[in-house]
Amino acid sequence: MAKANTVFTCQSCGAVHPKWSGRCDACGEWNTLVEETSSAAPGGLAAPKSSSRKAGKAEFTTLSAVEDAPTRHMIGVDELDRVFGGGVVPSSATLIGGDPGIGKSTLLLQVAARLARNGLSTVYVSGEEAAAQIQDRARRLKVAESPVELATETDLRKVMSSLKSANPDFVVIDSIQTMWSDSLEAAPGSVAQVRACAQELTRWAKKSGAALILVGHVTKEGQIAGPRVVEHMVDTVFYFEGERGHQFRILRAVKNRFGPTDEIGIFEMHQYGLAPAREPSALFLSNEDETSGGTAVFAAMEGSRPVLAEVQALVAASAYGTPRRSIVGWDANRLAMVLAVLEARCGVSLAGRDVYLSVAGGYRMSEPAGDLAAAAALLTSLADRPPPEKSVFFGEVALSGAIRPVARMDQRLKEAQRLGFKNAFVPEGSTGSFEGLTVKPLSRLSDLVDLIGPDPEP
Ligand code: TYD
Ligand code: MG
Repeated sequence: MAKANTVFTCQSCGAVHPKWSGRCDACGEWNTLVEETSSAAPGGLAAPKSSSRKAGKAEFTTLSAVEDAPTRHMIGVDELDRVFGGGVVPSSATLIGGDPGIGKSTLLLQVAARLARNGLSTVYVSGEEAAAQIQDRARRLKVAESPVELATETDLRKVMSSLKSANPDFVVIDSIQTMWSDSLEAAPGSVAQVRACAQELTRWAKKSGAALILVGHVTKEGQIAGPRVVEHMVDTVFYFEGERGHQFRILRAVKNRFGPTDEIGIFEMHQYGLAPAREPSALFLSNEDETSGGTAVFAAMEGSRPVLAEVQALVAASAYGTPRRSIVGWDANRLAMVLAVLEARCGVSLAGRDVYLSVAGGYRMSEPAGDLAAAAALLTSLADRPPPEKSVFFGEVALSGAIRPVARMDQRLKEAQRLGFKNAFVPEGSTGSFEGLTVKPLSRLSDLVDLIGPDPEP
């Protein structure tokens, strides 16, 4: 047995330091170093004495001679299979993160049950809940009869030996933070434990051909707790998100070695579990008819799927010297930029006024194409009159005041047409024609101001 080392591991980034300090040099976080003792320190502090080992040879294979990847397991739910990049990949490891109570266990139990019914051998290892609790949930989900093998265990050694003898096709570990390995003295949930357990499970999955899903808790900051290295170890990282108080949940790929990362799956949480959202593109529209200003519908794209979301804005006289800028669902810097362009290029001044901007339904605008919709919401609030009936907006606003084209314009317009919209304010360059939808190409932001903005002051 090697001599025990004391090291200090950053609980935020996983960097290993020989000495304690208040701040991690690697990531700059404060108070994240925790003392850990291990026989072989992670991070290579204790170099293995490998010189006596005879070196073997790494095998080379011609690229064209590599065997085809094994076929994927289709879950049979379109929303899920698409996010996975076309089904679950054998010999792979996936990490799913999300806030507590968002529905990770529910989702994965449903997936496991579906795959088990399709004839795969499926194991669900829970370190958080008792078997009776899981069965209770399974009854609610109406999957209690599925042949899913259940284990409530946190000892990695026991989990590994059961997995090796059962040799399943699909394994869920709920959650990776509850697993602990007795080869380390660190506490369960610590970076060292999470990393060691994830590494061992991932290595096993690659060798055995199983598809492994790890559930990861997220920290207050919304990152998967434990070191970033776990994200590097696995093939795929998903986040399961949603707003409390809203029914919908979004499964978003942030890393995917087997598929695109811009795809999302949209689900609704019902009494009997999660179901694919019925009209996902209309989920973020409010049903009220606009009678006053301050709303504009953004025709967004989430990967290959169009989504329409309502942007709401309120411009009000400021009671304080420094006006407030309050934003939900968009980026503060982009708002500042749009306000600056409105002021400098279009003569619309919002200085000295409070600006509140919020995207309905908890949707988050991440595309630059949202600029035009935000500008429209601001302008109609300022003008105190709604935009033309049933309008959608998209387009990137440049600092020069020009409106730049964005990706997949026709697809956005088609979805707007399908949902019954009548007007579209868009960048120039769309070639399609859409019956019932009047497309107004704009080249500059000032064109939008002329169309829907406040009346010019005399
Ligand atoms: P859960 O899957 O336990 O969340 P996580 O594993 O991410 O912590 O989901 C818990 C929440 O989902 C809980 O607040 C209850 C709700 N829920 C439903 O609304 N319907 C259902 O059918 C189930 C099983 C849970
Ligand atoms: Mg859970």
